Amino acid sequence: VQGPAAPAPTPWWHARRERLLRIADGATPAYAYDLSIVRERARALNAVSAIDRRFFALKANPHPDILRTLYAEGFGLECVSLAELDHVLGLFPDIDPQRVLFTPSFAPRSEYEAAFERGVIVTLDNVEALRHWPEVFRGRNLWVRLDLGRGEGHHAKVKTGGTASKFGLPLAALDRFVAAARALDARIVGVHAHLGSGVDLPKHWQQVYAELAGLADGIGTVETIDIGGGLPIPYKPDAVAFDIDAWAQGLAEIKAAYPRYQLAIEPGRYMVAESGVLLLRVTQVVEKDGVRRVGGDAGMNALMRPALYEAYHGIHNLSRLDDAQKAAFDVVGPICESGDVLGHARWLPEATAEGDVLLVADAGAYGFVMANRYNLRELPQQITFDGERDEP
Ligand code: LLP
Repeated sequence: VQGPAAPAPTPWWHARRERLLRIADGATPAYAYDLSIVRERARALNAVSAIDRRFFALKANPHPDILRTLYAEGFGLECVSLAELDHVLGLFPDIDPQRVLFTPSFAPRSEYEAAFERGVIVTLDNVEALRHWPEVFRGRNLWVRLDLGRGEGHHAKVKTGGTASKFGLPLAALDRFVAAARALDARIVGVHAHLGSGVDLPKHWQQVYAELAGLADGIGTVETIDIGGGLPIPYKPDAVAFDIDAWAQGLAEIKAAYPRYQLAIEPGRYMVAESGVLLLRVTQVVEKDGVRRVGGDAGMNALMRPALYEAYHGIHNLSRLDDAQKAAFDVVGPICESGDVLGHARWLPEATAEGDVLLVADAGAYGFVMANRYNLRELPQQITFDGERDEP
């Protein structure tokens, strides 16, 4: 729920400028994460009393220090591959497996078998798997991931519902799924829906809970309703921050209407996006046909989001934060593709020059984890620190 516009707070990295410049002196490109910001977000969600179970969607950022921070705050973890599961179980050998949720898509049979062996919660979103692999699901507890007939999100590529999407069991198939599960003595103890990422509809999660609760009533064995992730963060300078108090109020109301169920969420972006920045070193500044371009030592290889979704990330010259004289530059990387642009027409110091450090903001979610070695460029390094705690 979006409240009235308030002046955007100064981002944390202003106060950490010297530290970030030292990190960049070590090597660029580099992702730097402030764990104190992750902890703050966790505590904000822990204060939402309508929520019973919190899973971090670790696809957004599986860095061990980030996972340890969230685990220490009581978060469970949502995994989508066997490798993610084993990453979590390796880091937290004593974890209660019911704090781990496995929500794969088109996974091989072996990954479901492995997940059941490890005792974690397993989500399934099609009838075919029950039919083809009955012995895998016989007698098991299951969550069913539903397609509520629509997708939401910041870009078409991140909407995960509706006919065009590969995710979720369509509602028309729910009766068949329930019957097939019963025939195998499998119990449906959870219903789940995640409609997409970066959802800017304040009442979205409330509506999803209401729809799922109605369906859960019909199934009869459901204990938990998982309303997905998708919480947005304000990437653009004029964006309004997500109003978590109003959101919490909405959840409390709908929970009061359907109190029998445990309410679960699985946010990724909201927990980590603002905790991370990508640091680049300026390689060249070039003017061509009236367009000025600043080149950094990484682009779409380090951060795919602008090229893939036309996503906006704030870009700042950390070496010249206080320069008042600005000019418009396109910020590009070294990759041999015209789409290798991190930002168009950004106001950066006119004096921006080779060797300056550029900071790409809000890069803590879906940043490093989606980076690649295209053109055989090296992956960025990753550095974590904890607010002022380990300030030298
Ligand atoms: N649960 C499920 C089943 C998901 O598929 C996802 C994200 C989440 C939770 C967490 O969603 P979040 O709270 O982070 O919005 N690479 C894209 C986002 C892809 C999201 C994939 N699934 C981006 O950079 O915008």
